[in-house]
Amino acid sequence: MFPRGFAWGAATAAYQIEGGWQADGKGASIWDTFCQEPGRVFRDQSASVSCNSYELWEEDLQCIQQLGLTHYRLSLSWPRLLPDGTTQNVNQKGVQYYNKVIDDLCACGISPMVTLYHFDLPQALQDQGGWKSPAIAATFGSYARFCFQTFGDRVKLWITINEPYICSKLGHEDGIHAPGLQEPGTTAYLVGHNMLQAHAMAWHSYNTLYRAEQGGMISLAINSDWLEPLRPGCTEDIAATERCLAFTLGWFAWPVFVTGDYPEIMRRAIDAQSKKQAYDGDSRLPTFSKEEPAVLGTADFFALNYYTSRKIRAGCGTGGISMKGDQDVEEVLDPSWPISGVSWLAVVPCGLRNLLRYIKNTFNSPVVYITENGFAQVGKLQMEDVQRSEFYRDTIQEVGKAIQEDRVDVRGYFAWSLLDNFEWADSYSVRFGLFHVDFADTKLSRTIYRSGKDYAKIISKNKCMGKT
Ligand code: NOJ
Repeated sequence: MFPRGFAWGAATAAYQIEGGWQADGKGASIWDTFCQEPGRVFRDQSASVSCNSYELWEEDLQCIQQLGLTHYRLSLSWPRLLPDGTTQNVNQKGVQYYNKVIDDLCACGISPMVTLYHFDLPQALQDQGGWKSPAIAATFGSYARFCFQTFGDRVKLWITINEPYICSKLGHEDGIHAPGLQEPGTTAYLVGHNMLQAHAMAWHSYNTLYRAEQGGMISLAINSDWLEPLRPGCTEDIAATERCLAFTLGWFAWPVFVTGDYPEIMRRAIDAQSKKQAYDGDSRLPTFSKEEPAVLGTADFFALNYYTSRKIRAGCGTGGISMKGDQDVEEVLDPSWPISGVSWLAVVPCGLRNLLRYIKNTFNSPVVYITENGFAQVGKLQMEDVQRSEFYRDTIQEVGKAIQEDRVDVRGYFAWSLLDNFEWADSYSVRFGLFHVDFADTKLSRTIYRSGKDYAKIISKNKCMGKT
C-alpha cells in the first residue's frame, strides 16, 4: 500500500526528552521557567532530567534501530545551541551534541527530520517580549540560518515551527503552556502572526541561500483535528464546522498554501467581533503588510500532526473577547469513539483519511508528511498495550487507503513518540512512547512496548513490499 521510499518514522522533541537543562552551557528555555512556577505542571514536575537523551542518546539510537525506522524526527533546543537566543553567542557543546546525533543517524542509514522550534523559546528572548514581539521573526531567521549552515549538509527535511496553533493558543490565550500568558482574544493572534513571519523568514533564507547546495525541503508542522458537523443536514453546524477548520488548520495553512492571508471566514468573524466590542484598533487579527516577507508559497510540503476528531455544533454567542467567542462553536465527542488514556484523544483513525483528502482538495494536492500521530496511556501502564497497537495498525491502514484510493501524495508517517516523555503540563502522567521509560530508576531504562514491536513489524513488512 505504501510507495517506495516512504518515510517510516517516530518523533520526539528536545525539551520533552533531553534533560541536561543546565548542562555544558545551555541557556534556560521558557519551559524551564514555567516548570519552576508552582501549580503549572502536574505534581510540579519538570523535564530537567526527563529521558536524559542528552547523555543517553546512544540508547535512543538503539531504540530507533530496533524499530527499523527509516526516518527520525527530532527537534533542536534553541537555548542549547544559542543560550541567549542570538547567534552572537554559540554554545559549541550544543553543536557537538546535535552533530553527533545527526552523524550517528546518517551512519545507520536513518534520515533525520529536524524541527527548529518545538515550544522551547530561550528565556532570554521571552524577557524581550518573546513571540509577542515582531522582532522575534528576524531573530528566528538568524537562528534558522545558523542551523541550515551548521547541519544542512546532512539534514534534508526541516520543520521551522511545530504546531504554531498550540504555541499561540495554549501559551498565550489559555495560559496552560509556557510562557503561561492568559490574554484572550488578542495575544494568540499576534503570536500566530509573528510565527508566520518567522517561518517565512526561515523559508526564504533556505530558498535563496541553501536550497541549491543542500537540496532539502522545509515546512511548518500544522496540527488539526478532523471536524464534522454534529447534525449533518444542519446549516448552522455546517457553517460552524467550516469556521472551526478556518480557525485551526486554516489559520496557518491558508496564508502559506492558498492566499498569503488569513481565511476569509476567520477575518470576517474577528473583524466583526472586534467592531462590536469597540476594540481599540481595527481588528484583533493582525494584517499582513507589504513590508513583511511574503508568506504565500513558503512550504515545500504539508506537515500534518493529526491525533483525533470532533463533531461541531454552532455556538450560542456567549464566548466574550476570546478565540472561543470569535469562533462561536462547540466541540462534541461522538459517544461511539473510544477514548485513549487522555480525555482529548478520541480514537478516530478514519478521521486522518478524511483530513488527508480535505488537504489534497483544499491545498492543491501537496506532498504530505504526517509528522505526528499517536495514542496515550495514563494510570497503570500496560506493556502489552494492545489498544495502542490497534490504533497504529488502523490509522496506518487509513493512510494506505488515502494513498491508494484517494491519491493523496503522502510520503511519510511519524509516530509520536519514540519514548515515553514529558507531556507538557501533564508531565509524566501521560505516556505516548513506543518505548516505556522507567523514570523512577536512575538508569532511565527503555523497554519496548507491544505497540513498538508491532509497529516494527508493520515497517519491516511495508519496507520489503515497497522494494518489489
Ligand atoms: C503534539 C506536540 O507536538 C507534542 O509535543 C505532544 O507531546 C503531542 N502533541 C502529544 O500531545
